[in-house]
Parts: sequence; C-alpha cells; structure tokens
Amino acid sequence: MNQENSKIRLGVNVDHVATLRNARGTVYPDPLKMALMLEKLGVNGITAHLREDRRHIIDQDVVNLVNNIKLPINLEMAATQEMQSIALELVPHAVCLVPERREERTTEGGLDIISTEKELKAYITPLLEKSIKVSIFVSAELEQIEAASRIGAPVVELNTGSFCDFFSQNRVEEYSNEMTKLKKAASRAKQLDLEVHGGHGISYDTARLVAAIPQIQELNIGHFLISESIFQGMSAVISKMRHEIDFGQKSYMGS
Ligand code: PXP
Repeated sequence: MNQENSKIRLGVNVDHVATLRNARGTVYPDPLKMALMLEKLGVNGITAHLREDRRHIIDQDVVNLVNNIKLPINLEMAATQEMQSIALELVPHAVCLVPERREERTTEGGLDIISTEKELKAYITPLLEKSIKVSIFVSAELEQIEAASRIGAPVVELNTGSFCDFFSQNRVEEYSNEMTKLKKAASRAKQLDLEVHGGHGISYDTARLVAAIPQIQELNIGHFLISESIFQGMSAVISKMRHEIDFGQKSYMGS
C-alpha cells in the first residue's frame, strides 16, 4: 500500500450531475441524491466545485452536501474573497484551491502559487484556523510544490490532466514525460511532508497508472465516472474504479 499503508481514497466529483440539471433548468438530477448514493457505494469523499459563474454546482448544493453527507466534503474553489467567506461559513472538511477562468471549459493548469505566495499564505490562514484541510491544485512542477509547502498548505493535488489527455491520444512519449514529472513532484511533496492527491481527466486506464505513484493518497474523479454511469450504472462504475485503483496501488508493492 502507500506510505500510510492504507488504500488510496476515492473522492467523487458530482459537478456534472448539476451540469445535467442546469441544462434544463429543472430540479433534477440532484447532486445530493448522487452523493447519498455514492456514500452507500463506499466511496471516501465527495467533491464539488463552486465556480464563480455557478455553471454547475450552486450555493444551495454545497449547503445540502455539507448538511447531509457524512463523508468528507472537498470544496473546490478559486481563491476569491467570496469563496473564502462561503468556506468559512460552511466549514467543509477540505478546500481545494484551483485557478479559474470564466472562458475555460474545465480547470486548466494548476494554481501559480509562486506569483501570489504572500497573498495565498494570508488567504489560507483563516481556513486552516477553522481546521479546514487546505489543498492546492498544482501542476507537477517542483517549484510550485515547494511554494505550497512554504505557505503552509498541508496538501497538494497534482494536476493529472495533461498526462490523461496524452494517454487518451496514445501520445506515448508525451504521457511518459508527464508521468515522470508527476512521480518527481509526488516524491518531492512527500519529502516536504505534504499529503499528495491527484485529479483531473482520470479514467479507468489512467487511474491504474496514477495509483501506482507511491505517494498518492487520494484521487478525485468526476467527469469520467458520471459519464460511464449513464451506461453502466454508478454501482458498477464505482466497483470497477475501486478495482483499478487498488490494482495500480498494489503494482509498486511487488505483491
Ligand atoms: N480535481 C480538481 C482540482 C478539479 O478541478 C477537477 C475538475 O473539477 C477534478 C479533480 C475532477 O476532474 P474530472 O472531472 O476531469 O475527473
């Protein structure tokens, strides 16, 4: 198993249940209903991204999740004053700070901690004081990992997006390079005593490979799981994803 000798946690991002709901302006499908189902299916956490433009998750969804879900809630958000106030009021288990641009389709790249190091340190202090576990979504760059450590963030979530994109396009050299970067970043993060998560673009195939990075303790996966559940149902999808993650994790243990 990983360095903590436990299974990699699987957090499921329910944003795209809300995307479907909002496409018709109806009250269904409800992300809370999905989260309650996921809880029964044995996942380890629920993630939701409250974007500035509320294109999927809306404020009431976050309230519903925090009030009704026993699993840890991981609130993804931009480092804005508005989001900080929401997090301080609702006190989710964790907050993952992500870069956000209105025109992007999904989160692109990691947060540039270095260029706003002082401000970010001040930004996360009240969150940490409320015992919210602060994670920073970063590209697999050693300088950013070191900056995350300097500002006192306990967790980094490595952006697996490029690796997954190259893998899905069968661009072997590029995805191998990305994997090398992810491994180096994970190893440096652990040296600095940071908890290491991974997320973005992960499917069954890439889950296996990312889970084989020894320092990874949590994976946050959304779009693929919600998409596959249309065909297979969420129960089958979660058991297959759990299997792939466990298989990947065992592969570096020589077992
Ligand atoms: N982690 C972070 C920080 C993200 O921004 C996202 C996308 O919202 C995810 C994980 C999940 O990515 P995907 O939906 O591609 O699995």
